[in-house]
Amino acid sequence: MALLTILEFPDPRLRTKAQPVTVFDAQLKQLVADMFETMYAAPGVGLAATQVNVHQQLLVMDMSEDKSDARVLINPRLLEKSGEQIFQEGCLSFPGIYADVERALRVKVAAQDVDGKHIEFEVEGPLAVCVQHEMDHLAGKVFVDHLSSLKRSLLLKKLDKKRKQSA
Ligand code: NI
Repeated sequence: MALLTILEFPDPRLRTKAQPVTVFDAQLKQLVADMFETMYAAPGVGLAATQVNVHQQLLVMDMSEDKSDARVLINPRLLEKSGEQIFQEGCLSFPGIYADVERALRVKVAAQDVDGKHIEFEVEGPLAVCVQHEMDHLAGKVFVDHLSSLKRSLLLKKLDKKRKQSA
């Protein structure tokens, strides 16, 4: 296993639209294992392949406290969404900054697992936030895109400041 390098905003590669996964082989399983290792080490609760500069429709997530809810979504598609919620989000590509984002409360998603098997599930609350946030990455979107331009510029200033402090 290997830790992968996470791209940080404003890296333009974060704007790449991911291509569908078509080959479900040992190499894909290795990538999934490496992405989990990278996500847990960060630590984070979700990681899209886009963030590790692999532009395939693949994401991993685990919002549990004890690594008991590991999920892999390959070629995910949003089937339904309903309701709304505001949740404070962070992102491994924006270290140290957080913002309230409005998203659907409930989502129904179809995807494939690491063997290519079709899966379908419905989640709500924080899990639904995570799914929507990570699916955004695969479309080349990031969470600050959901904010007003004023809020976004304040947040990006904060990100700059944090970087200068840690440099
Ligand atoms: Ni993110």
